[in-house]
Amino acid sequence: MSGNENIVFHAAPGGALHGRARVPGDKSISHRSIMLGALAEGVTEVSGFLEGEDCLATIGAFRAMGVRIDGPANGRVTIYGVGLRGLSPPAGDLYMGNSGTSMRLLAGLMAGQSFDVVMTGDPSLTRRPMKRVAAPLRTMGAVIDTSPSGTPPVRISGKQHLHGIEYLMPVASAQVKSSLLLAGLYAEGQTCITEPAPTRDHTERMLRGFGYRVEREGRTVCVEGGGRLRASKIDVPADISSAAFFMVGAAIAPGSDLTLEHVGVNPTRTGVINILRAMGAEITLSNEREVGGEPVADIRVRARHLRGIRIPEDQVPLAIDEFPALFIAAACAEGETVLTGAEELRVKESDRIQVMADGLLTLSIDAKPTPDGMIIHGGALGGGRVNSRGDHRIAMAFAMAALRAGGPVVIDDCANVRTSFPDFLSLAEGAGLRVRQQT
Ligand code: S3P
Repeated sequence: MSGNENIVFHAAPGGALHGRARVPGDKSISHRSIMLGALAEGVTEVSGFLEGEDCLATIGAFRAMGVRIDGPANGRVTIYGVGLRGLSPPAGDLYMGNSGTSMRLLAGLMAGQSFDVVMTGDPSLTRRPMKRVAAPLRTMGAVIDTSPSGTPPVRISGKQHLHGIEYLMPVASAQVKSSLLLAGLYAEGQTCITEPAPTRDHTERMLRGFGYRVEREGRTVCVEGGGRLRASKIDVPADISSAAFFMVGAAIAPGSDLTLEHVGVNPTRTGVINILRAMGAEITLSNEREVGGEPVADIRVRARHLRGIRIPEDQVPLAIDEFPALFIAAACAEGETVLTGAEELRVKESDRIQVMADGLLTLSIDAKPTPDGMIIHGGALGGGRVNSRGDHRIAMAFAMAALRAGGPVVIDDCANVRTSFPDFLSLAEGAGLRVRQQT
C-alpha cells in the first residue's frame, strides 16, 4: 500500500459515457512550466496547471530553493523567476513523493548548481531506476550518487564544471532526454542527445517558448550552455494521459458518445489515439489549434466493436503511460492483442505488466505477461477485487473496466490517483461511470 491510507474505489457494473468533459492539465507540461518559470528572468503566468501531488512536489522543491511561487489556485500559478543562477540551497532534502519526472528532470538541473542537494521519494519512487540519468550526467562532469542498486535517494554535489556531451540514449526516455538538456543549460559547449525512437518533446518546445535556442536534426536534439530563459505565459492543455481513461471507457461501453475538450495532441503523445483507432474505435478530432506551442483539439469518442491487434512497437513510446487503459480496451476486444517492446512498463510507478495482468486475471480475462509486454485474449469481464499497488493509472484503468464488467469492480490502494488526477471520481461520475470512494 502507498502511505498508510487505503483509499478503495467501488465501480458498479455497466453504464455508458456521455457529454463533454475537460480533464485536468498535462502533467509533463505542468512540471516543466514550474522548472523553466523558476529559472527564467521575469514573471511566468501559468493557467490550466495540474494541481496533482506530483506537480505540487515540483513546486515545493523550487520554493525550498527560494523561488516565490503563488498558487496554484484554479489552475493558475505565478512564478517569480530567479534566473539560471538564482536558486538558493534548500534547508533540507527535496522530497519528490511519487514523482519520477520531478526527480529525473531535477537531477539534471541540480547537477549545474553551486550547492548540494539530496532528493528522496515515497516507497514507489525509491524503487525506480535513476542510473539512467546519473550515468550520463556523470560523463558531463556531475557528481551524483544513488543507492548501490541505482535507486533514490539521489545525492548531488554542486560547484562542478559541466561540459557538453553527445549521448545516444539506450532507452527511449523523455525524462532522460530532458534531464540532460536541462544540465546542458549549465554546461560548457553543446549537449546533443540522440533518441532511439521519438519521445515527448515538451521540454524542447517549452525551452524555445522561453527564448532558448534548441536545435534538432532527425533524432538528435542539441542545446548550448550559457544562454538565458525569458519568462513566458503558459496555457497547459488537458492531459491526453488522463483523457485516455475516458477515451477507453467511451470506446468500450456500448452507446457511449463523449467529447474531451482542449486535450493536448502533440504527435509525440497520440499513440493512444492511433492504437484505439487501429482496434476499430471511432475517434474524431475537432477544433484543432495551437496553444502556446502545443497542438490542442477536442476529441470525440463513440463506442464501437473493438478487435484485438498486434500493437506496432513504434507506438510504444508515444503511448507509454496509456497501457493500463489500453489493456482494458484489449480485454474488451474480440481476439488477441499482443504488446511487445514495452519492458519500460515494468519500471513505472508499479510493474504495470505484472500488476495489470494480475488484475485482469482476477476479472476472468486471459492475460499473459511477457518480459516486454502482454498477450491479452478479449472476453467477458467479470467483477472482482483488484489491487492497483499504489499506481494511479492502474486504479483509473480498472475503474473504467467496470463499464463492461459482469459485477462490481473494487480497487484497493487508490490514494495515488491524487498524483495526476485529483478530481477523477467526480469527472468520471459526471460522465456516467458509477464509481465512488468506498467508506
Ligand atoms: C514523462 C516521460 C515518460 C512518462 C512519464 C512522464 C515526462 O517517462 O512515462 O509519466 O514528463 O517526461 P519516460 O520518459 O521515462 O518514459
